[in-house]
Amino acid sequence: MTAGPAVLPAKAVPSRGAVLPVRVAGVGAWLPDDVVTNDDLAHTLDTSDQWIATRTGIRRRHVADASDATSDLALRAATAALADAGIAAADLSAVVVATTTPDHPISGVAPIVASRLGIEVAAFDLNAACSGFVYGLRVAGGLAASSAGPVLLIGAETLTRFTDRDDRDTAVLFGDGAGAVVLEATDDAALGPFDLGSDGSDPSMLWAEAGGSRLPADATVVAERRQFISMRGREVYRFAVQRMTESSRNVLDAAALTFADVDLFVGHQANLRILEGVATRLHIDPAALHVTVDRHGNTSAASIPLALADAQQAGRLHDGDRVLLSAFGAGLTWGSCLLTWSRKGQL
Ligand code: ACO
Repeated sequence: MTAGPAVLPAKAVPSRGAVLPVRVAGVGAWLPDDVVTNDDLAHTLDTSDQWIATRTGIRRRHVADASDATSDLALRAATAALADAGIAAADLSAVVVATTTPDHPISGVAPIVASRLGIEVAAFDLNAACSGFVYGLRVAGGLAASSAGPVLLIGAETLTRFTDRDDRDTAVLFGDGAGAVVLEATDDAALGPFDLGSDGSDPSMLWAEAGGSRLPADATVVAERRQFISMRGREVYRFAVQRMTESSRNVLDAAALTFADVDLFVGHQANLRILEGVATRLHIDPAALHVTVDRHGNTSAASIPLALADAQQAGRLHDGDRVLLSAFGAGLTWGSCLLTWSRKGQL
C-alpha cells in the first residue's frame, strides 16, 4: 500500500489538524503467565482487595518472569502483531519501542527486538512514560506515511522491576506486559489529529529519582530506595483527569467532531476512577469506554496497545470505527489522538 493523497471516506476525520494516511494493519499483545491478585499482595503489604479495587479499579496484574526483560515481552507482542497483520518482519522499514523501563539504561530495546526478528532496519526507543504509545503513534505513523514499508510500534514495560515491593502506595498499581501494532500507509486519512504536550517543571510529581545522570544509583541511594518509582498520587490524579480531558477536547475540536462521534474511548489504563472522571467530563457514554486496568494494572506505555488488542479480541473494533486514545504520564506528559479503525485497508 502506498501513501497517496488523503481522500476522506465517510467515517474518517475531516481534520483541521494533521491526519496521517496510516492505518493499523495488525495488533498483538503479550502478558506474563504469573498473575498477582490484590489478595496476594495483601499477604505481604498492609493493604486489601477492597482498598485497591475501590481506589483504582485494579483486581490483578501480570508480573514478568525473572528471566525476562522488556525486550522479551516486546518481541512476543511484536510477533503476534506481525501475524495478525499477515506481514513478514522482512517487510518492515522501522521498529519503534515506547518504553520507560528498558533492558539497560544505555542501549535501546528496539534494536534488540529488530535483531531477534532478523532485520537491520532503523530501530530506536521513545520515552514519554505512560504517554509513550500515543507519542509513538505520531512518530512511527509519520515514518510509515513516508517510508518504504510498514513500521512496527511496540509499547513494552516491566514496571514491577522499578517498583518498591514494600511500598503500598505504588506496589499495588503496576503490572508488566507488551502490546504492538503494525502501521501501514493507506489511501485514507486514518491516524490523527494529535494533541501532544508536556510540563517538565516538576518531574518529582511522578518519577524514579535515581539511576540517571542527575543522581546515579550508588550504594547510599539504593539503600534509601530512591531508584524506585515514587509519586504524589493525589496531584497525579488531578493532573491526569485535567490533561486527558483537555487534550481529548483539543483532538475532537481539531477534527470538527463531538464525543457523540467517538465509537470507542481507549484511555491509558492507570486507574478506573481517572478513566471514568474523564469520560464524565467529556460526556462520553460509559459503554464507549474500554477497560483493562482491572486485569492488567498500570502497564504504562503498554497499556493502550494491550487495550486495543483486548478490544479487538472482544469484537469491539469494527472497520470505520473512530477510536479516541488519550494518555498521561511521568515527565509530565500527555497526548491524545483519533484513530479510524481500518483492518481491510479501505474505509
Ligand atoms: N492500601 C491501603 N491503604 C493505602 C494504600 C494501599 N495500597 N496506599 C495508600 N494507602 C493509604 C494512605 O497511606 C492514606 O492513609 P492515611 O489517610 O492514613 O494517610 C490513605 O490510604 C489515602 O491515601 P491517598 O494517597 O490520599 O489515596 P487516594 O485516594 O489519592 O488514592 C491513588 C491513591 C490510588 C494512588 C490515587 O491517588 C491515584 O490513582 N493517583 C494517580 C496515580 C497514577 O495514576 N499514577 C500513574 C503512574 S504512571 C507512570 O507514568 C509511571
